[in-house]
Amino acid sequence: MEKLVIEGGVPLRGEVNIGGAKNAALPVMTASILSPGENIVSNVPNLKDIATMGKLLARLGIGFQFSGDKVTLKTDNITSVEAPYDLVRTMRASVLILCPLVARMGEAKVSLPGGCAIGARPINLHLMGLEKMGAEIHLTEGYVHVKARRLKGASIYFDIPTVTGTENLMMAASLADGVTMLENAAMEPEVVDLANVLIKMGAEIQGAGTSVIRINGVENLKPFNYRIIPDRIEAGTFLAAAGITGGDIKIKNCNFSHLDAMVIKLKEAGLIINQESDGVRVKGPERLKPVDVKTMPYPGFPTDMQAQFMTLMSIADGTSLITESIFENRFMHVAELKRMGANIKIQGATATVRGIPSLTGAPVMATDLRASASLVIAGLAAKGTTVVDRVYHLDRGYEQIEEKLKPLGAKIKRIR
Ligand code: EPZ
Repeated sequence: MEKLVIEGGVPLRGEVNIGGAKNAALPVMTASILSPGENIVSNVPNLKDIATMGKLLARLGIGFQFSGDKVTLKTDNITSVEAPYDLVRTMRASVLILCPLVARMGEAKVSLPGGCAIGARPINLHLMGLEKMGAEIHLTEGYVHVKARRLKGASIYFDIPTVTGTENLMMAASLADGVTMLENAAMEPEVVDLANVLIKMGAEIQGAGTSVIRINGVENLKPFNYRIIPDRIEAGTFLAAAGITGGDIKIKNCNFSHLDAMVIKLKEAGLIINQESDGVRVKGPERLKPVDVKTMPYPGFPTDMQAQFMTLMSIADGTSLITESIFENRFMHVAELKRMGANIKIQGATATVRGIPSLTGAPVMATDLRASASLVIAGLAAKGTTVVDRVYHLDRGYEQIEEKLKPLGAKIKRIR
Protein backbone atom coordinates (compact mmCIF):
# COMPACT_ATOMS: atom_id res chain seq x y z
CA MET A 1 0.00 0.00 0.00
CA GLU A 2 1.54 3.34 -1.01
CA LYS A 3 1.40 6.41 1.22
CA LEU A 4 2.15 10.11 0.89
CA VAL A 5 4.22 11.72 3.67
CA ILE A 6 3.75 15.49 3.93
CA GLU A 7 5.57 18.07 6.11
CA GLY A 8 3.15 20.98 6.40
CA GLY A 9 3.60 24.75 6.65
CA VAL A 10 5.28 25.65 3.35
CA PRO A 11 3.54 28.39 1.29
CA LEU A 12 3.41 27.09 -2.32
CA ARG A 13 5.26 29.17 -4.91
CA GLY A 14 5.74 28.71 -8.65
CA GLU A 15 3.86 27.36 -11.67
CA VAL A 16 1.82 24.19 -12.25
CA ASN A 17 0.40 22.71 -15.47
CA ILE A 18 -3.12 21.27 -15.38
CA GLY A 19 -3.74 17.96 -17.17
CA GLY A 20 -6.67 16.88 -19.35
CA ALA A 21 -10.06 16.24 -17.74
CA LYS A 22 -10.56 12.59 -16.67
CA ASN A 23 -14.33 13.06 -16.83
CA ALA A 24 -14.12 14.31 -20.41
CA ALA A 25 -11.66 11.62 -21.55
CA LEU A 26 -13.82 8.75 -20.28
CA PRO A 27 -17.02 9.53 -22.25
CA VAL A 28 -15.02 10.64 -25.30
CA MET A 29 -13.22 7.28 -25.32
CA THR A 30 -16.56 5.42 -25.31
CA ALA A 31 -17.86 7.60 -28.17
CA SER A 32 -15.32 5.81 -30.40
CA ILE A 33 -17.59 2.72 -30.21
CA LEU A 34 -20.16 4.56 -32.34
CA SER A 35 -18.17 4.30 -35.56
CA PRO A 36 -15.62 1.93 -37.15
CA GLY A 37 -12.17 3.39 -37.81
CA GLU A 38 -9.21 4.87 -35.97
CA ASN A 39 -9.94 7.51 -33.31
CA ILE A 40 -7.41 9.70 -31.48
CA VAL A 41 -7.99 11.49 -28.17
CA SER A 42 -5.25 13.86 -26.98
CA ASN A 43 -4.50 15.72 -23.72
CA VAL A 44 -5.50 12.52 -21.89
CA PRO A 45 -4.19 12.30 -18.30
CA ASN A 46 -2.21 9.19 -17.34
CA LEU A 47 -4.61 7.90 -14.65
CA LYS A 48 -5.77 4.51 -13.42
CA ASP A 49 -9.35 5.16 -14.60
CA ILE A 50 -8.11 5.76 -18.16
CA ALA A 51 -6.23 2.45 -18.11
CA THR A 52 -9.35 0.72 -16.73
CA MET A 53 -11.49 2.16 -19.54
CA GLY A 54 -8.83 1.04 -22.02
CA LYS A 55 -9.00 -2.52 -20.64
CA LEU A 56 -12.79 -2.46 -20.86
CA LEU A 57 -12.77 -1.27 -24.49
CA ALA A 58 -10.12 -3.88 -25.36
CA ARG A 59 -12.49 -6.56 -23.95
CA LEU A 60 -14.97 -5.41 -26.61
CA GLY A 61 -12.39 -6.03 -29.35
CA ILE A 62 -11.26 -2.40 -29.63
CA GLY A 63 -7.55 -1.72 -30.27
CA PHE A 64 -6.45 0.52 -27.37
CA GLN A 65 -3.06 2.29 -27.26
CA PHE A 66 -1.95 5.03 -24.86
CA SER A 67 1.35 6.84 -25.38
CA GLY A 68 2.26 10.27 -24.09
CA ASP A 69 -1.04 12.09 -23.79
CA LYS A 70 -2.59 10.34 -26.83
CA VAL A 71 -5.11 7.50 -26.74
CA THR A 72 -5.68 5.65 -30.03
CA LEU A 73 -8.82 3.53 -30.41
CA LYS A 74 -9.29 1.21 -33.39
CA THR A 75 -12.98 0.32 -33.53
CA ASP A 76 -13.37 -1.61 -36.81
CA ASN A 77 -14.29 -4.90 -35.13
CA ILE A 78 -16.44 -5.04 -32.01
CA THR A 79 -16.20 -8.69 -30.97
CA SER A 80 -18.14 -8.57 -27.71
CA VAL A 81 -21.00 -6.53 -26.23
CA GLU A 82 -20.36 -7.57 -22.64
CA ALA A 83 -18.71 -5.52 -19.86
CA PRO A 84 -17.79 -7.88 -17.00
CA TYR A 85 -18.28 -7.17 -13.29
CA ASP A 86 -14.57 -7.43 -12.44
CA LEU A 87 -13.87 -4.30 -14.49
CA VAL A 88 -17.15 -2.38 -14.06
CA ARG A 89 -17.05 -2.62 -10.26
CA THR A 90 -13.76 -0.69 -10.14
CA MET A 91 -15.08 2.26 -12.12
CA ARG A 92 -18.63 3.59 -12.28
CA ALA A 93 -17.88 5.38 -15.55
CA SER A 94 -17.91 1.92 -17.23
CA VAL A 95 -21.66 2.48 -17.61
CA LEU A 96 -20.74 4.89 -20.44
CA ILE A 97 -20.21 1.98 -22.86
CA LEU A 98 -23.84 0.90 -22.51
CA CYS A 99 -25.46 3.31 -24.96
CA PRO A 100 -22.77 3.44 -27.66
CA LEU A 101 -22.80 -0.38 -27.74
CA VAL A 102 -26.60 -0.54 -28.12
CA ALA A 103 -26.49 2.20 -30.78
CA ARG A 104 -23.75 0.49 -32.81
CA MET A 105 -24.38 -3.24 -32.17
CA GLY A 106 -28.06 -3.33 -31.16
CA GLU A 107 -27.16 -4.99 -27.85
CA ALA A 108 -25.15 -4.51 -24.64
CA LYS A 109 -24.68 -6.54 -21.47
CA VAL A 110 -23.11 -4.42 -18.73
CA SER A 111 -22.67 -5.39 -15.09
CA LEU A 112 -24.61 -3.04 -12.83
CA PRO A 113 -22.03 -0.64 -11.38
CA GLY A 114 -22.85 -1.36 -7.75
CA GLY A 115 -22.45 1.36 -5.21
CA CYS A 116 -19.23 3.12 -4.41
CA ALA A 117 -17.83 4.96 -1.42
CA ILE A 118 -19.80 8.15 -2.05
CA GLY A 119 -23.24 6.64 -2.56
CA ALA A 120 -25.55 4.11 -4.23
CA ARG A 121 -25.14 5.80 -7.62
CA PRO A 122 -27.96 4.05 -9.51
CA ILE A 123 -28.36 4.16 -13.29
CA ASN A 124 -32.17 4.19 -13.39
CA LEU A 125 -32.23 7.43 -15.39
CA HIS A 126 -29.90 5.97 -18.03
CA LEU A 127 -32.23 2.96 -18.38
CA MET A 128 -35.39 5.11 -18.34
CA GLY A 129 -34.07 6.99 -21.37
CA LEU A 130 -33.16 3.79 -23.26
CA GLU A 131 -36.62 2.38 -22.54
CA LYS A 132 -38.26 5.51 -23.98
CA MET A 133 -36.09 5.03 -27.08
CA GLY A 134 -37.60 1.55 -27.56
CA ALA A 135 -34.88 -0.63 -26.04
CA GLU A 136 -35.73 -3.94 -24.37
CA ILE A 137 -34.14 -4.04 -20.93
CA HIS A 138 -33.59 -7.08 -18.67
CA LEU A 139 -31.87 -7.05 -15.30
CA THR A 140 -30.47 -10.53 -14.60
CA GLU A 141 -27.73 -11.72 -12.21
CA GLY A 142 -26.36 -8.25 -11.59
CA TYR A 143 -26.18 -7.44 -15.28
CA VAL A 144 -28.29 -5.05 -17.33
CA HIS A 145 -29.00 -6.58 -20.74
CA VAL A 146 -30.24 -4.10 -23.36
CA LYS A 147 -31.42 -4.90 -26.89
CA ALA A 148 -32.71 -2.66 -29.69
CA ARG A 149 -32.57 -3.23 -33.44
CA ARG A 150 -32.51 0.53 -33.90
CA LEU A 151 -33.25 3.07 -31.16
CA LYS A 152 -35.97 5.63 -31.86
CA GLY A 153 -35.85 9.33 -31.03
CA ALA A 154 -37.79 10.18 -27.84
CA SER A 155 -38.50 12.99 -25.38
CA ILE A 156 -36.58 12.29 -22.16
CA TYR A 157 -36.86 14.28 -18.91
CA PHE A 158 -34.25 13.68 -16.15
CA ASP A 159 -35.65 13.93 -12.60
CA ILE A 160 -32.06 14.80 -11.60
CA PRO A 161 -29.49 16.33 -13.98
CA THR A 162 -27.19 13.30 -14.38
CA VAL A 163 -23.78 13.86 -16.00
CA THR A 164 -23.11 10.34 -17.35
CA GLY A 165 -26.84 9.83 -17.94
CA THR A 166 -26.88 12.88 -20.23
CA GLU A 167 -23.67 11.68 -21.92
CA ASN A 168 -24.92 8.11 -22.38
CA LEU A 169 -28.24 9.14 -23.92
CA MET A 170 -26.66 11.81 -26.12
CA MET A 171 -24.57 8.99 -27.64
CA ALA A 172 -27.62 6.71 -27.98
CA ALA A 173 -29.62 9.47 -29.70
CA SER A 174 -26.82 10.31 -32.17
CA LEU A 175 -27.56 7.14 -34.18
CA ALA A 176 -31.28 6.81 -33.36
CA ASP A 177 -34.09 7.09 -35.90
CA GLY A 178 -35.61 10.54 -35.33
CA VAL A 179 -35.23 13.45 -32.91
CA THR A 180 -34.42 13.06 -29.18
CA MET A 181 -34.94 15.85 -26.64
CA LEU A 182 -33.02 15.61 -23.35
CA GLU A 183 -34.64 17.91 -20.75
CA ASN A 184 -33.15 18.90 -17.39
CA ALA A 185 -29.89 17.68 -18.93
CA ALA A 186 -26.53 18.11 -17.18
CA MET A 187 -24.63 21.23 -18.34
CA GLU A 188 -21.09 20.29 -17.23
CA PRO A 189 -18.20 21.31 -19.55
CA GLU A 190 -17.42 17.59 -19.94
CA VAL A 191 -20.91 17.08 -21.46
CA VAL A 192 -20.16 19.90 -23.93
CA ASP A 193 -16.78 18.33 -24.78
CA LEU A 194 -18.48 15.03 -25.62
CA ALA A 195 -21.09 16.85 -27.73
CA ASN A 196 -18.25 18.56 -29.65
CA VAL A 197 -16.73 15.15 -30.42
CA LEU A 198 -20.06 13.69 -31.54
CA ILE A 199 -20.66 16.72 -33.80
CA LYS A 200 -17.16 16.21 -35.27
CA MET A 201 -18.21 12.59 -35.94
CA GLY A 202 -21.24 13.87 -37.89
CA ALA A 203 -23.94 13.93 -35.19
CA GLU A 204 -26.57 16.69 -35.25
CA ILE A 205 -26.72 18.12 -31.70
CA GLN A 206 -27.97 21.50 -30.46
CA GLY A 207 -28.09 22.89 -26.94
CA ALA A 208 -25.23 21.01 -25.24
CA GLY A 209 -24.26 23.06 -22.16
CA THR A 210 -27.88 24.08 -21.59
CA SER A 211 -30.59 22.08 -19.83
CA VAL A 212 -32.32 21.17 -23.13
CA ILE A 213 -30.35 19.20 -25.73
CA ARG A 214 -31.84 18.31 -29.15
CA ILE A 215 -30.29 15.45 -31.10
CA ASN A 216 -31.39 14.56 -34.63
CA GLY A 217 -30.27 10.93 -35.21
CA VAL A 218 -28.18 10.11 -38.31
CA GLU A 219 -27.47 6.84 -40.16
CA ASN A 220 -23.79 6.61 -39.27
CA LEU A 221 -20.85 8.51 -37.81
CA LYS A 222 -17.16 8.75 -38.64
CA PRO A 223 -14.03 8.43 -36.46
CA PHE A 224 -12.56 11.53 -34.77
CA ASN A 225 -9.32 13.18 -33.65
CA TYR A 226 -9.93 15.45 -30.64
CA ARG A 227 -8.08 17.25 -27.83
CA ILE A 228 -10.06 17.25 -24.59
CA ILE A 229 -10.54 20.12 -22.14
CA PRO A 230 -8.36 20.69 -19.06
CA ASP A 231 -9.45 19.24 -15.72
CA ARG A 232 -11.38 21.94 -13.84
CA ILE A 233 -11.33 19.93 -10.61
CA GLU A 234 -7.55 19.52 -10.70
CA ALA A 235 -7.33 23.29 -11.29
CA GLY A 236 -9.70 23.92 -8.37
CA THR A 237 -7.64 21.61 -6.17
CA PHE A 238 -4.47 23.66 -6.83
CA LEU A 239 -6.38 26.91 -6.21
CA ALA A 240 -7.35 25.46 -2.82
CA ALA A 241 -3.78 24.31 -2.12
CA ALA A 242 -2.46 27.83 -2.74
CA GLY A 243 -5.25 29.26 -0.61
CA ILE A 244 -4.65 27.07 2.42
CA THR A 245 -0.83 27.50 2.46
CA GLY A 246 -0.89 31.29 1.95
CA GLY A 247 0.97 30.63 -1.29
CA ASP A 248 1.32 32.45 -4.60
CA ILE A 249 1.17 30.21 -7.69
CA LYS A 250 0.32 30.38 -11.38
CA ILE A 251 -1.94 27.66 -12.79
CA LYS A 252 -1.31 27.03 -16.50
CA ASN A 253 -3.37 25.24 -19.18
CA CYS A 254 -6.66 25.57 -17.32
CA ASN A 255 -9.91 26.94 -18.75
CA PHE A 256 -10.79 29.84 -16.43
CA SER A 257 -14.41 30.00 -17.61
CA HIS A 258 -15.03 26.48 -16.24
CA LEU A 259 -14.00 27.57 -12.72
CA ASP A 260 -16.70 30.23 -12.13
CA ALA A 261 -18.47 29.03 -8.98
CA MET A 262 -15.20 27.84 -7.41
CA VAL A 263 -13.46 31.18 -8.06
CA ILE A 264 -16.39 33.15 -6.63
CA LYS A 265 -16.41 31.12 -3.39
CA LEU A 266 -12.61 31.05 -3.04
CA LYS A 267 -12.49 34.84 -3.50
CA GLU A 268 -15.11 35.20 -0.76
CA ALA A 269 -12.74 33.14 1.43
CA GLY A 270 -10.05 35.77 0.82
CA LEU A 271 -8.01 34.34 -2.06
CA ILE A 272 -6.79 36.77 -4.73
CA ILE A 273 -7.44 35.14 -8.12
CA ASN A 274 -6.73 36.79 -11.46
CA GLN A 275 -6.64 35.54 -15.03
CA GLU A 276 -3.34 36.55 -16.66
CA SER A 277 -2.18 36.08 -20.26
CA ASP A 278 -0.40 32.78 -19.54
CA GLY A 279 -2.51 31.33 -16.75
CA VAL A 280 -4.43 31.96 -13.53
CA ARG A 281 -2.53 33.70 -10.71
CA VAL A 282 -3.71 32.83 -7.17
CA LYS A 283 -2.54 34.17 -3.80
CA GLY A 284 -3.65 32.85 -0.43
CA PRO A 285 -4.60 35.26 2.40
CA GLU A 286 -3.02 35.52 5.86
CA ARG A 287 -6.20 34.03 7.32
CA LEU A 288 -9.11 32.47 5.37
CA LYS A 289 -12.62 33.85 5.86
CA PRO A 290 -15.57 31.51 6.58
CA VAL A 291 -17.88 30.92 3.58
CA ASP A 292 -21.08 28.84 3.26
CA VAL A 293 -21.27 26.50 0.25
CA LYS A 294 -23.90 24.19 -1.21
CA THR A 295 -22.87 21.77 -3.98
CA MET A 296 -25.07 21.93 -7.08
CA PRO A 297 -25.01 20.64 -10.67
CA TYR A 298 -22.94 22.82 -13.03
CA PRO A 299 -22.73 25.83 -13.13
CA GLY A 300 -23.18 25.54 -9.36
CA PHE A 301 -20.36 24.74 -6.92
CA PRO A 302 -19.06 21.28 -7.93
CA THR A 303 -19.51 18.35 -5.55
CA ASP A 304 -16.02 17.20 -6.62
CA MET A 305 -14.61 20.29 -4.86
CA GLN A 306 -16.64 19.99 -1.64
CA ALA A 307 -14.03 18.07 0.35
CA GLN A 308 -11.19 20.39 -0.73
CA PHE A 309 -13.25 23.46 0.20
CA MET A 310 -14.12 21.98 3.60
CA THR A 311 -10.41 21.60 4.36
CA LEU A 312 -9.91 25.32 3.72
CA MET A 313 -12.86 26.22 5.94
CA SER A 314 -11.49 24.04 8.77
CA ILE A 315 -8.87 26.75 9.47
CA ALA A 316 -10.98 29.80 8.51
CA ASP A 317 -11.64 32.65 10.94
CA GLY A 318 -15.22 31.65 11.83
CA THR A 319 -17.97 29.10 11.13
CA SER A 320 -19.05 27.80 7.69
CA LEU A 321 -21.94 25.60 6.59
CA ILE A 322 -21.15 23.11 3.80
CA THR A 323 -24.09 21.27 2.23
CA GLU A 324 -23.64 18.28 -0.09
CA SER A 325 -26.76 18.05 -2.25
CA ILE A 326 -25.55 15.67 -4.99
CA PHE A 327 -24.39 12.52 -3.19
CA GLU A 328 -25.78 10.98 -0.04
CA ASN A 329 -22.51 9.98 1.57
CA ARG A 330 -19.75 12.33 0.57
CA PHE A 331 -18.43 13.31 4.01
CA MET A 332 -15.92 10.48 4.58
CA HIS A 333 -13.11 13.02 4.75
CA VAL A 334 -14.70 14.62 7.86
CA ALA A 335 -13.59 11.88 10.28
CA GLU A 336 -10.04 12.12 8.90
CA LEU A 337 -9.96 15.94 9.14
CA LYS A 338 -11.15 15.67 12.75
CA ARG A 339 -8.12 13.48 13.48
CA MET A 340 -6.09 16.50 12.39
CA GLY A 341 -7.93 18.72 14.88
CA ALA A 342 -10.74 20.07 12.68
CA ASN A 343 -13.98 21.00 14.47
CA ILE A 344 -16.76 19.69 12.18
CA LYS A 345 -20.29 18.57 13.03
CA ILE A 346 -22.52 16.76 10.49
CA GLN A 347 -26.33 17.05 10.55
CA GLY A 348 -27.79 15.23 7.53
CA ALA A 349 -26.41 16.76 4.34
CA THR A 350 -24.86 19.77 6.10
CA ALA A 351 -21.52 19.99 7.87
CA THR A 352 -20.93 22.84 10.34
CA VAL A 353 -17.23 23.72 10.22
CA ARG A 354 -15.87 25.83 13.09
CA GLY A 355 -12.52 27.23 11.97
CA ILE A 356 -9.45 26.61 14.20
CA PRO A 357 -6.07 28.41 13.97
CA SER A 358 -4.32 25.45 12.33
CA LEU A 359 -4.52 21.70 11.71
CA THR A 360 -2.07 19.22 13.22
CA GLY A 361 -0.40 16.52 11.13
CA ALA A 362 -1.61 12.92 11.69
CA PRO A 363 -1.84 9.54 9.94
CA VAL A 364 -5.05 9.67 7.85
CA MET A 365 -6.76 7.43 5.31
CA ALA A 366 -8.04 8.28 1.86
CA THR A 367 -11.54 6.95 1.17
CA ASP A 368 -12.55 8.30 -2.21
CA LEU A 369 -10.87 10.26 -4.97
CA ARG A 370 -11.73 13.83 -4.01
CA ALA A 371 -11.67 13.20 -0.25
CA SER A 372 -8.05 12.03 -0.62
CA ALA A 373 -7.18 15.34 -2.33
CA SER A 374 -8.64 17.20 0.65
CA LEU A 375 -6.34 15.26 2.99
CA VAL A 376 -3.27 16.14 0.93
CA ILE A 377 -4.27 19.80 1.08
CA ALA A 378 -4.79 19.50 4.83
CA GLY A 379 -1.31 18.00 5.16
CA LEU A 380 0.23 20.89 3.21
CA ALA A 381 -1.10 23.36 5.79
CA ALA A 382 -0.93 21.30 8.99
CA LYS A 383 1.76 21.70 11.65
CA GLY A 384 4.00 18.61 11.58
CA THR A 385 3.80 15.42 9.51
CA THR A 386 0.74 13.94 7.81
CA VAL A 387 0.74 10.45 6.31
CA VAL A 388 -2.06 9.80 3.79
CA ASP A 389 -2.70 6.09 3.35
CA ARG A 390 -4.47 4.29 0.44
CA VAL A 391 -3.30 6.83 -2.13
CA TYR A 392 -4.59 4.57 -4.91
CA HIS A 393 -7.82 6.54 -4.49
CA LEU A 394 -5.87 9.69 -5.29
CA ASP A 395 -4.15 8.14 -8.32
CA ARG A 396 -7.54 7.53 -9.93
CA GLY A 397 -7.99 11.24 -10.51
CA TYR A 398 -4.62 12.98 -10.06
CA GLU A 399 -1.55 12.16 -12.13
CA GLN A 400 1.35 11.83 -9.62
CA ILE A 401 0.09 14.80 -7.56
CA GLU A 402 3.30 14.85 -5.49
CA GLU A 403 5.35 15.41 -8.67
CA LYS A 404 3.27 18.51 -9.32
CA LEU A 405 3.45 19.76 -5.73
CA LYS A 406 7.23 19.30 -5.17
CA PRO A 407 8.27 22.03 -7.70
CA LEU A 408 5.94 24.37 -5.79
CA GLY A 409 8.00 23.84 -2.64
CA ALA A 410 5.81 21.25 -0.95
CA LYS A 411 7.65 18.77 1.30
CA ILE A 412 5.90 15.63 0.08
CA LYS A 413 7.09 12.14 -0.84
CA ARG A 414 5.52 8.79 -1.78
CA ILE A 415 6.57 5.75 0.24
CA ARG A 416 5.71 2.09 -0.31
C1 EPZ B 1 -20.25 12.29 -12.67
O1 EPZ B 1 -20.69 11.13 -12.01
C2 EPZ B 1 -18.75 12.37 -12.42
N1 EPZ B 1 -18.10 11.18 -12.98
C3 EPZ B 1 -18.51 12.45 -10.91
O2 EPZ B 1 -17.10 12.56 -10.69
C4 EPZ B 1 -19.20 13.69 -10.37
O3 EPZ B 1 -19.01 13.74 -8.97
C5 EPZ B 1 -20.69 13.61 -10.70
O4 EPZ B 1 -20.86 13.46 -12.12
C6 EPZ B 1 -21.45 14.84 -10.26
O5 EPZ B 1 -20.89 15.98 -10.86
C7 EPZ B 1 -17.89 11.11 -14.30
O6 EPZ B 1 -18.21 12.02 -15.06
C8 EPZ B 1 -17.21 9.88 -14.81
P1 EPZ B 1 -24.54 11.88 -11.75
P2 EPZ B 1 -22.15 10.55 -12.35
O7 EPZ B 1 -25.19 10.84 -12.60
O8 EPZ B 1 -22.52 10.85 -13.75
C9 EPZ B 1 -28.13 10.43 -9.05
C10 EPZ B 1 -15.04 11.59 -9.99
O9 EPZ B 1 -14.43 10.91 -9.21
N2 EPZ B 1 -28.50 9.55 -10.17
O10 EPZ B 1 -24.46 13.29 -12.27
O11 EPZ B 1 -22.15 9.15 -11.89
C11 EPZ B 1 -26.79 10.05 -8.44
O12 EPZ B 1 -26.96 9.02 -7.48
C12 EPZ B 1 -16.53 11.43 -10.04
O13 EPZ B 1 -14.51 12.34 -10.78
C13 EPZ B 1 -29.64 8.77 -10.08
O14 EPZ B 1 -30.34 8.79 -9.07
O15 EPZ B 1 -23.08 11.41 -11.39
C14 EPZ B 1 -26.33 11.35 -7.82
O16 EPZ B 1 -26.95 11.48 -6.55
C15 EPZ B 1 -17.01 11.28 -8.63
N3 EPZ B 1 -29.96 7.96 -11.13
C16 EPZ B 1 -26.89 12.42 -8.77
O17 EPZ B 1 -27.92 11.76 -9.54
C17 EPZ B 1 -29.21 7.89 -12.28
O18 EPZ B 1 -29.58 7.15 -13.21
C18 EPZ B 1 -25.86 12.96 -9.75
O19 EPZ B 1 -25.22 11.84 -10.31
C19 EPZ B 1 -28.05 8.70 -12.35
C20 EPZ B 1 -27.72 9.52 -11.29
